Amino acid sequence: MTNSAPQNSPRIVVVGSINMDLVVRSARLPAPGETLIGNSLSEIPGGKGANQAVGAARLGADVSLIGRLGDDGFGDTLRRALVVEGIQLDGVERTRKCCSGVAIIGVEDSGQNCITVVPGANGRLMPADVQKQAQAIARVDVLLLQLEVPIPTVLAAMELARTNDVVTILDPAPAIRDYPPELLNVDVVCPNESEAALLTGIEITTTESAHRAAEKLQQLGARQVVITLGDKGAVFRDASGHTGHLTPFPVTAVDTTAAGDAFAAALGIRLAEGGSLQDAGRFACAAGAVAATRKGAQPGMPSREDVNELLN
Ligand code: RIB
Repeated sequence: MTNSAPQNSPRIVVVGSINMDLVVRSARLPAPGETLIGNSLSEIPGGKGANQAVGAARLGADVSLIGRLGDDGFGDTLRRALVVEGIQLDGVERTRKCCSGVAIIGVEDSGQNCITVVPGANGRLMPADVQKQAQAIARVDVLLLQLEVPIPTVLAAMELARTNDVVTILDPAPAIRDYPPELLNVDVVCPNESEAALLTGIEITTTESAHRAAEKLQQLGARQVVITLGDKGAVFRDASGHTGHLTPFPVTAVDTTAAGDAFAAALGIRLAEGGSLQDAGRFACAAGAVAATRKGAQPGMPSREDVNELLN
């Protein structure tokens, strides 16, 4: 069965990666040089872009994805998983003689993970691919971006969105050492602590330091900021300088792999629906918390009902 969004749903375009996650679960993560016996190995659709697209679709948005798959079996499986979610894939092409993106993910019993990504076709997503989808970008409410595809492609998508008054939201993940400053020319940036520290040079150890980093991110160009703090919730700073702390939802994490992707998707949809940054941030914290209680990236993305249940 294919899901599709009702008319008048918020419209979201995601530009980003599509990966097959090869997930090994073990009691704890191995130390460097150590060999451990794991408990299970699973192939699970993932990739930050595709996860955000699935997250937004399950929350009720009309979603299009712009990305690239390889011409391998993983590409077929990943495409099918997105079709089932009702995601528009006109902007997802296959790259010949190229493998699809793969993420090797270790998850320990506490829910913590470590990830190595082999970009494959994601690395071939070019600014021209985004420009081909200019009309699709121009007619949406929100553009969601992350950094598992080439930075020039991310910047090209931002530029197109800006010229069409589309709200731009950047999840600056995975963290990179030298973020180009132009990346912060967005309506909302939603880093986690380590990404915020790399972007600002401010080490985040308390909510107070997170607030200072949020202010710095605004000085660096982001109109609005939400910094996620894992099990400590999040802090936000809106365009008028209004700040606050979003308290965490107490849940037992089993897999935090795509919690940040669920967060970004939920933030995007609530902002598209006209919510304030504070309201959208709280909705997003709930979505991230639900995702952390479930195994796997795309399978773990919550529905609207799941998020509302936690909020209530
Ligand atoms: O954010 C989680 C995602 O990061 C995983 O699904 C994996 O594919 C990596 O890209």
